[in-house]
Amino acid sequence: MRIFLKDLKKNLNKRIILKGWIFNYRSSGSIFFIQFRDGSGEIQGIVLKNGVDQKTWENCKKITLETSIEITGKIYKEKRSPFGYEIQIEKLEIIGLAEEYPIGKKEHGVDFLMNHRHLWIRSKRQATILKIRDEIIWAIRSFFKKENFILTDSPILTPTACEGSTTLFSTDYFDTKAYLSQSGQLYLEAMIYSLGRVYDFGPTFRAEKSKTRRHLTEFWMMDAEAAFVNHEENMKIQENLVSFIVEQVLKNRKTELLFLERNIESLKRIKTPFPRITYHQAIEICQKNGLKAKFGEDLGGDEETIISKQFDRPVFIEKYPAKIKAFYMKPDPENPKLVLNADCLAPEGYGEIIGGSQRIDDLITLEQKIKEFKVNKKPLEWYLDLRRYGSVPHSGFGIGVERTVAWLCGLDHVRETIPFPRLINRLNP
Ligand code: 4AD
Ligand code: MG
Repeated sequence: MRIFLKDLKKNLNKRIILKGWIFNYRSSGSIFFIQFRDGSGEIQGIVLKNGVDQKTWENCKKITLETSIEITGKIYKEKRSPFGYEIQIEKLEIIGLAEEYPIGKKEHGVDFLMNHRHLWIRSKRQATILKIRDEIIWAIRSFFKKENFILTDSPILTPTACEGSTTLFSTDYFDTKAYLSQSGQLYLEAMIYSLGRVYDFGPTFRAEKSKTRRHLTEFWMMDAEAAFVNHEENMKIQENLVSFIVEQVLKNRKTELLFLERNIESLKRIKTPFPRITYHQAIEICQKNGLKAKFGEDLGGDEETIISKQFDRPVFIEKYPAKIKAFYMKPDPENPKLVLNADCLAPEGYGEIIGGSQRIDDLITLEQKIKEFKVNKKPLEWYLDLRRYGSVPHSGFGIGVERTVAWLCGLDHVRETIPFPRLINRLNP
């Protein structure tokens, strides 16, 4: 019977079949030690020359790193093995003999590894990060499910910008132009009138000219939008979401976090409520720390790093100047030069993981803002309709999956958080 290594404990001392790849091996005379993975786990196998048939022994002499094999044998507990278990191999068949594998044990440069990303993802470190990514995505989905948000889908090909025209990717669309979605938000705003509370999950695109450790040109985002939710309530949903993600990852992927040498103690501190500071206070913190941040300018990577180092849990920065944020954000009734928005910054210097706001819900203000921001109104007529037919106060936010993965895994750069990163200077493999 074929089993997966994740289930090995249930299959001790039974004759089983495993299929997978060799990631390490050595031989000494009449014995082979083969380290093997199947995607769900790892184990070491032992082949004794006089415990197997001639064919299996010949196959062992041929194996190379990354050769795929099928083995038959019995798994038993072995304290001395790095995996805690071993398999006594009775039969080994080669499925695909690998050529000399380009990624070795020696250190490789980032460029080399990125050029071999299709092979690099097989490494234990990369597989571990991708398992945590999977956990984060499932945590987000379960959170929304339990909070009565319905999963819905926003289009990728769109006629307009959501987040400003300077970072739009355009593509030919028959005899006109289409843009790759920067965020599904505007469409989710339409969906709340049908489903009340919604979220989407999909790839989003930004032609970001920034070559930083936080920017991808293609990244995965979950947008959430809810009717009858104001700015305050919006932040509460976000902090509950973030603390739930951390809790799930700690519960289900502790081994993986430890393998990455992630400081678990700092993740255990991620409990609600998260502190809130205003944009004004954020600028003051930056200035006190020697940065040249100015009122009226957006916070960049350096500013986010400084601010997020001041707190032991995520922090919300609220109420940015309207001028530097998107056209759809609701002005603060106490000071209409500001908007009812918040960015959520992850601690330890990681910076922004969520951007959200309460949206303008009346037609006149929205029309004014569209004019002020010199946004093309025509393709947004449908969006204005939402303010014509039963408009309600509503808010939402978008959480970037890769930034969240980088933070929770403790990575220096987002390039390791997604299987095939797209960066300003990288479209291959
Ligand atoms: O702050 P942003 O631009 O917000 C929006 O797009 C809103 N429309 C979302 C909404 O309200 N529904 O992007 C949201 C998040 C950021 O906080 C960040 O985590 C991630 O998306 N993000 C990026 N991640 C990687 N590379 C980039 N270039 C990113 N740009 C944004
Ligand atoms: Mg943002």
